[in-house]
Amino acid sequence: MVGPLHMTNSTLTPIIDVHIDPSDIEQSLRDDVCEGLTATPKNIPPKWFYDHTGSELFDRITRLDEYYPTRAEREILVREAASIVEISGADTFVELGAGTSDKTRALLDAATRHGRLKRFIPFDVSEKFLRNTSIKLASEYPSLEIHGVVGDFDRHVELIPTGGRRLVAMLGGTIGNYAPGPRARFLRSLMSIMAPGDHLLLGTDLVKDPDRLVRAYDDAAGVTAAFNKNVLSVINRHLDADFDVDQFDHVARWDAESEWIEMLLCSRINQTVHVGSVGLDVGFARGELMRTEISSKFRREGIERELGDLGLEMVDWQTDAAGDFGVSLSRL
Ligand code: AVJ
Repeated sequence: MVGPLHMTNSTLTPIIDVHIDPSDIEQSLRDDVCEGLTATPKNIPPKWFYDHTGSELFDRITRLDEYYPTRAEREILVREAASIVEISGADTFVELGAGTSDKTRALLDAATRHGRLKRFIPFDVSEKFLRNTSIKLASEYPSLEIHGVVGDFDRHVELIPTGGRRLVAMLGGTIGNYAPGPRARFLRSLMSIMAPGDHLLLGTDLVKDPDRLVRAYDDAAGVTAAFNKNVLSVINRHLDADFDVDQFDHVARWDAESEWIEMLLCSRINQTVHVGSVGLDVGFARGELMRTEISSKFRREGIERELGDLGLEMVDWQTDAAGDFGVSLSRL
């Protein structure tokens, strides 16, 4: 309902474009599960971690001693926000996967102080999350036009409204979920909503001691294990499946050749799982591994070359004091 009060102040009613609805999501989960559980080796894409429980578990992960990326990136953004805003000269700020609102605030604060920022476009897969964030930010930043977009990274990025001088941000190391081929494809789709002179702000976790990396994805309290196994509950609930979550073990390992952390679920026994809504019976052998996520780790030269190949010029590179995490700013 839009009352007269709201009509006098556009910032109280942020615009939200919705490109996915719940039935869409169910269909796309069905497709991913059919494909992933009949493949060899089996896999489930990491985007299905994030139901309500999964998002809460991820939030706990970001506060674990072992999980340094969130703190390291925040350190960089708080320190560099003013400089990033200054270099980019943006009047429009697009954030992909807007699940990092405290880090976003560092940038929004610097940008509004700078006085040039007019529009914030958060893009996220969760409509509920995006609505809450947009409404909150609209009241906190009354001078800002908020235009949220609900969509999937792989299908709807091109539908993000264009115009203005933009800073497009993808933070948290989310880009690490892509292997190199799909990553280039994704970045190319991102560039389709950018014009020459626009900037990309990219948060990337860095290659480091494998023991520390593995610990960050296999914490002592077992939060990451619960996060990993939760994807089976998501499938049970949405696709009428009967995964016994306790019959799978959490595995995190470092792939030195690909330079990524791999998360997997290991079947403890020989078992058959029934996925009701697609009429699929899936056999798991004892010890069989199913991949649920890759989290790529980067080096400055590698990311600079990758972005350069796509026509993006790295104009700024910052790490935290410990050198664990990198934030790059690149100009198209
Ligand atoms: C949200 C993809 C950046 O790869 O570190 C955290 C997800 N998985 N612990 C990451 C994650 C296990 C996270 N990203």
